[in-house]
Amino acid sequence: MQLKNDLILRAAKGETTERTPVWLMRQAGRILPEYRAVREKVKGFREMVVNPEIATEVTIQPVDILGVDAAIIFSDILVVPEVMGMPYEMIEAKGPVLPNPISAKEDLKRLKVEGAHQDLHYVYEAIKITKRELNGRVPLIGFAGAPWTIMAYMVEGSGSKTFYKARKMLYSEPAISHELLSNITSVTIAYLKEQIKAGADMVQLFDSWAGILAPDQYKEFSLKYISEICNAITEVPVTVFAKGAFFARKEMGNLKCNTIGLDWNMGIKESRELIGAQKTLQGNLDPCVLYTSYDEIKKHTKKMLDEFGPHKHIANLGHGVYPDTDKDKVKCFVDSVKEFSSKKVSI
Ligand code: CP3
Repeated sequence: MQLKNDLILRAAKGETTERTPVWLMRQAGRILPEYRAVREKVKGFREMVVNPEIATEVTIQPVDILGVDAAIIFSDILVVPEVMGMPYEMIEAKGPVLPNPISAKEDLKRLKVEGAHQDLHYVYEAIKITKRELNGRVPLIGFAGAPWTIMAYMVEGSGSKTFYKARKMLYSEPAISHELLSNITSVTIAYLKEQIKAGADMVQLFDSWAGILAPDQYKEFSLKYISEICNAITEVPVTVFAKGAFFARKEMGNLKCNTIGLDWNMGIKESRELIGAQKTLQGNLDPCVLYTSYDEIKKHTKKMLDEFGPHKHIANLGHGVYPDTDKDKVKCFVDSVKEFSSKKVSI
């Protein structure tokens, strides 16, 4: 299937593009009334994830409604712990809960590693159907959580501001931590490869809890495994988004990936210097800009585009869009990227 719009793939590969491609992390979600309507008809979040037809429908919604240059398959990073033997529950207004978290070496014995990725057949099916329904309109992004972020949920058993139990394990039980991370890494590599076989045109690793580690720990317990994944995925462009990992930008420049995602705390020019000229950069508007006026959104978007420059940039927010953002403001961001990056417009 020939892609009609492959801007994001070309930008990821460092090629010159007519304009800057744009998409949003968490674009398939509660910002869209159309998503909320589907969500109301089902029992819970998980039911949407495991049902390939529903997952396809909500994956394509932002392409139709917002006009983004890529779709991201509707799923969650927590499907990996689930197939390894740790199911999650998504509790309204609280977030994910994983009963029976990992706390000792014997807990590792109950985890499935070999062949665990095969149990994610509903994701591969959703990717296949989505590719068919997209009919080449835009590329489809596959994804997984980075091993450290997945371990953080497996050890903490829920979201947390500090993830102190998970960080405690890194210090007190480094060997158990490495074994767990290495197991998550092998499932993740197999999972991403299968997503690519099913049709994912590029893949992104989300290291959402990168920023809570000390720099040396980050290198030892997170970057090492991200690097293994990057080395293993050679089929399609890879993006690494490590939220808060400002201290590791120089090392991230050496990863075997195409694109590095920036959050809004990371200065654009400084990031380019640290990461180097080779990589494409993705990001990084503060999601809170989308709560301001249309004029402010346009101004901030233009400033961001000017700082990144016209090439080797994929426009996005610095983290997922917040669920109560007005979808017309999101559309304003998408339209502004398209307009300002295709011609020099002054506002
Ligand atoms: O549009 C997309 O980006 C694709 C779908 C997607 C979801 N989660 C759907 C979702 C993606 C890529 C994710 C990744 C994810 N999940 C991350 C990494 C990105 C990040 O935000 O840092 C993390 C840490 C998770 C774990 C997770 N899932 C949490 C902490 C929560 C609860 C917080 C919240 O937003 O409610 C979720 C739930 C979740 N994942 C929702 C969606 C649309 C909301 C669930 C609902 O509809 O009730």
